[in-house]
Amino acid sequence: MDTIVSLCKRRGFVFPAAEIYGGFANAFDYGPLGTEMRRNIRNAWWQSMVHGRDDVVGLEATVITNPKVWEASGHVTTFNDPMVDCKNCQARFRADHIDLKAPCPECGAVGQFTEPRLFNMMLRTYIGPVQDESSVAYLRPETAQGMFINFENVLTATRRKLPVGIAQIGRSFRNEITPGNFIFRTREFEQMEMEYFVKPGEHHAAYDYWRKERFRWYVRLGVRPERLRFMVHPQEALAHYSAGTTDVEYLYPIGWQEVEGIASRTDFDLKQHAAYSGRQLTYFDEESGQHIVPYCVEPAAGVDRTFLMLLCDAYDEETLEKNDTRVVLHLHPLVAPVTVAVLPLSRNEKLVPTARTVWDLLRPHFATQFDDAQSIGRRYRRQDEIGTPWCVTVDFETVEQDNAVTIRDRDSMQQERVPIEDLVAALRERFDAAVAQTNRAADAFEPQL
Ligand code: GAP
Repeated sequence: MDTIVSLCKRRGFVFPAAEIYGGFANAFDYGPLGTEMRRNIRNAWWQSMVHGRDDVVGLEATVITNPKVWEASGHVTTFNDPMVDCKNCQARFRADHIDLKAPCPECGAVGQFTEPRLFNMMLRTYIGPVQDESSVAYLRPETAQGMFINFENVLTATRRKLPVGIAQIGRSFRNEITPGNFIFRTREFEQMEMEYFVKPGEHHAAYDYWRKERFRWYVRLGVRPERLRFMVHPQEALAHYSAGTTDVEYLYPIGWQEVEGIASRTDFDLKQHAAYSGRQLTYFDEESGQHIVPYCVEPAAGVDRTFLMLLCDAYDEETLEKNDTRVVLHLHPLVAPVTVAVLPLSRNEKLVPTARTVWDLLRPHFATQFDDAQSIGRRYRRQDEIGTPWCVTVDFETVEQDNAVTIRDRDSMQQERVPIEDLVAALRERFDAAVAQTNRAADAFEPQL
């Protein structure tokens, strides 16, 4: 993990938050490359969950909303983690993350833990000038509730029939007791959630479908399937709203950990909000001629954990010929922060104008970078290290002879000469081929439950 953290800082993927003020524990800012990669993750998710489908629509709800939402959802009373303190060193742990009979993981003291106490994880704030209990509001701990409270609005506005999904991407906040492991567990993070509403009875099939579909999505992004697995929650460990939950886990450097949870939430949320708001959150089923409360299946993923997973999965230190080595991120072109780098062979005044013209040609089509500093070999290595799938090199032949450039492939390091006029199409073809390849792999893959 340390290698990934240092690469992230050095190359501008992730910075410690507020570093010039000594930092802010367990908070991170995303740098230029991290920002691009996160946009790509969100776009890939949106494409797969909304644009690519005919049964899901989007939503953007507020981060701070009526506190009654969190009473109805159960978060005010049940969104608690059991917490213990070590009386010897004052370190704080989640009681369910450690063995309470074992020595303290921080100081080694035995038998020094306090009794577990419940700790509500919602972050509180106050609305308006008076800060008392009547002005308390919460930063949302999940985006999901936005979909439930807008269920009626969305269905009325879109005139959709079941099954219908409502999807949202946005920041959520939790006062985690034990944040850590870089961006894996933080207090501010970003979720990609979709609530898929079906007729009661159809939820078992929907739960199965979404578990497999979501697993395959990571394969579509190029993640090695052998580093992914399902973890079905035992009945006694289910969240208060869930009739069944399965996590997609990834083998991070810290071990197998959840990247996404798929939950069968039954009609719990709509019924709760109906009871608390006094509104009828039902659906008129033309087939049976009755008003029904739909059931809901929810795939809930994290942008930050997907980001970390993709970096861990892509990272490689390769030994090349003549004992040369390189660090390379084998990122899928769909998520790589830079798709194409334009590199003039040198800063020679003959080459740079043409290289800039090539750059102008590519910018409307791809995320690009222009780099003319240092030797071409070093520049290839720099692009390898940030996962750029293709480098386009402009050399003397380009300007003096053939008006063609070289496309260098990151993974194979093969080079191919292409006329400038065909360059966009040639790169597009490579991009589409990479997408088609992982799509085929995902479609052929049968995730094991
Ligand atoms: N609406 C259901 C829900 O929020 P969750 O399993 O608590 O379910 C879904 O969260 C996803 O959000 C997780 O799988 C993870 O990717 C991300 N997530 C949750 N808490 C996080 C945290 N403290 N830091 C980073 N990501 C987090």
